[in-house]
Amino acid sequence: MTTVSDNIAFKITRKTDGTPAAERESLVANPGFGRAFTDHMAVVTYTEGRGWHSAEILPRQPLMLDPAASVLHYAQEIFEGMKAYRTPNGAVQLFRPEANARRFQKSAERMAMAQLPEDLFLEAVTQLVTIDRDWVPAPEVGTLYIRPFMIATEAALGVKPASEFKFIVIACAAGEYFSKDAGPVSVWVETDTVRASRGGTGTAKCGGNYAASLTAQMEGKEHGCQQVLFLDAEERRWLEEMGGMNVMMVFEDGTLLTPPLAGGTILHGITRDSLLTLARDAGMPVKEERYALDQLFADAKSGKLREVFACGTAAVVSPIGAFKSKTDSCTINNNTVGDVTAKLRQTLCDIQFGRTADPHDWIRTVA
Ligand code: PLP
Ligand code: COI
Repeated sequence: MTTVSDNIAFKITRKTDGTPAAERESLVANPGFGRAFTDHMAVVTYTEGRGWHSAEILPRQPLMLDPAASVLHYAQEIFEGMKAYRTPNGAVQLFRPEANARRFQKSAERMAMAQLPEDLFLEAVTQLVTIDRDWVPAPEVGTLYIRPFMIATEAALGVKPASEFKFIVIACAAGEYFSKDAGPVSVWVETDTVRASRGGTGTAKCGGNYAASLTAQMEGKEHGCQQVLFLDAEERRWLEEMGGMNVMMVFEDGTLLTPPLAGGTILHGITRDSLLTLARDAGMPVKEERYALDQLFADAKSGKLREVFACGTAAVVSPIGAFKSKTDSCTINNNTVGDVTAKLRQTLCDIQFGRTADPHDWIRTVA
């Protein structure tokens, strides 16, 4: 793995009254998503003039924040989502963590926040996963979902980039993001609000993007949908991405298509990038091209569009069975899981869980 900063050593304070083993084992065996938090957290502080300092691993606990902290008023906040996987021989490994560290730096740049060195990001994640390694579920159950984030902590109501930040990493045992029992995901196509516009913050992983997506999610839920697909802000015509994942289409001629990153409004998904690579490896024709909503409904109805799936760290590869909008609806692949979707998911998961070779050097063993 990339070398770790020598300048900053983590002070480790172990939780003395950690979650009792029986309770932890029962949580880890049936974790759901985003609720079964581990015993520890990593915290590193930034102060202008001093840089990053006071790196700690400590018992997970509430934060003390001044009520004037910039994050609470002006949403100076960014985050990442990544996972630790348990391999067949019991080791614990990360998937492309350097890509998360780099995207975190890009998000920080867009939100005028302090730059966190890549090796400090990786060290914080590695230390937390190591101390909480008993929280990594068995592969048939799921993964350890890791949430690194940074908040502006300076107490100042003037609108300006903060001079104090905290970088924090928490983690939770996690099962499927979408329950598999419910079958393929139904997706609401949002035609009123947008997630991102050119020049906005769409490519940054900042909390505000997600807050702005929630009214659409609520509306989707009223229509029986678990996710929302957003369109471009200018023409309200082109598919962009979902509230928390990228989208990919498979056509009758075997082509895999996903919206391009060039417009600067879509999150540069690491899963997206990995799947494009794996599809190319498998000899599939791959296109990163714009695709219009009216075309999606037409192609779904004519049978030209065979499969659609969502992809992301949390979602992995989740088949989409139906789209609904205010004016139209369609079913994809008879609301069943398509072969290409299943194969890509399997290929990706086999690498992530260490069941197969790692031809692209994506895996980092941590514990
Ligand atoms: N798009 C959005 C809006 C997301 O929140 C995510 C999840 O992180 C993704 C796409 C997929 O990104 P990744 O594959 O890096 O998790
Ligand atoms: C992730 O996939 O890591 C995300 O941040 C998206 C969210 C739906 C949990």
